[in-house]
Amino acid sequence: MYNSKIAGLGHYLPEKVITNDDLSQLMDTNDEWIVERTGINERRHIKKGSGDGTATMGVKASEMALKNAGIEASDIDLIVFATLSPDYYFPGSGVLVQELMGIGTCPAIDIRNQCSGFIYGVSVADQFIKTGMYKNVLVIGSENVSGGLDMSTRGRTVSVIFGDGAGAVVMTRETDLSKGILSTHLHSEGKHAAELSMIGPNTNHWIPELIDKNDPEDLSYYPYMNGQLVFKNAVTRFSEVINEGLNKNKWQASDIDMLVPHQANLRISQFIQRRFGLEDHQVYNNIMKYGNTTAASIPIALSEAVQEKAIKEGDKVVLAAFGSGFTWGSAIIQW
Ligand code: ACO
Repeated sequence: MYNSKIAGLGHYLPEKVITNDDLSQLMDTNDEWIVERTGINERRHIKKGSGDGTATMGVKASEMALKNAGIEASDIDLIVFATLSPDYYFPGSGVLVQELMGIGTCPAIDIRNQCSGFIYGVSVADQFIKTGMYKNVLVIGSENVSGGLDMSTRGRTVSVIFGDGAGAVVMTRETDLSKGILSTHLHSEGKHAAELSMIGPNTNHWIPELIDKNDPEDLSYYPYMNGQLVFKNAVTRFSEVINEGLNKNKWQASDIDMLVPHQANLRISQFIQRRFGLEDHQVYNNIMKYGNTTAASIPIALSEAVQEKAIKEGDKVVLAAFGSGFTWGSAIIQW
């Protein structure tokens, strides 16, 4: 029997910074509203023609993760790729990463669990490593959302929140069963599927049909979010799934050295921080500079936290996410 552990981390952000003032040139919004409701000061958007995309940013984050893990691309046994903004409708972005990195014919799985995608990916990798089937698994979260946002006033509630970027981890075997990923906890509730979604194009509403109609009133191909319902569900589910992980491992909230929440909204993270009685240095937030990068947010934050030595060996670390589906999850890690 093995545990799995995170052996190396990496992240990549596109260069182009979009401030709240930049957004106010495009839509009726302002820095004060955005900072007060979301805590976001700026985010990154891919520059057209730069070569950055969901898979290529995933490759850059992965190269850093491999270097930090001290292994070669050829050592990877499985790729798990989490995104809500794949390069193509099909195939998934995992196979594109495999080809770009020249990783033989290893399997590649795409995970479509949006903001919870990275934790679902970690859980999938953990199962394959624990059973002994694979030794080294590359888990990537990467998002190119900026091109699909409604950047007019009509889309402002959603568009100010999201940003582009990628994070990756190399997961490998841990023989000490008191270390590494101790447990993962996954949930979903499909009755709220429409409340945070982008439903077009879809198999009842194919792209040629959309082009034929060319209907400027058709909003199905822009993300939709019922912000208040998402907020209420997020704070409840985040708390539940963190408690589930703590209970499973007989940890108290006071044992947590670092909570890395999905960077949904700074107000959600602060609510969770208060609920668990954590100090500022026990919760890692970088949404202020990158916005919400959905499946990429946790691996980017985790990679930065390790780089800054905010997480070190021996720490008790909790990852938690909530997002579209609704889906949510946590991972309990003895670092
Ligand atoms: N700039 C300026 N004004 C705006 C903007 C904007 N970007 N967006 C909306 N408004 C206006 C509205 O039009 C409305 O104006 P009105 O009172 O004149 O009608 C007013 O602000 C309040 O609008 P609400 O939609 O009620 O705003 P709310 O207070 O709910 O805040 C928000 C919206 C920030 C989205 C909030 O609901 C929230 O935090 N929800 C959680 C959702 C979230 O964070 N999701 C993250 C992505 S999903 C995930 O990762 C899980």
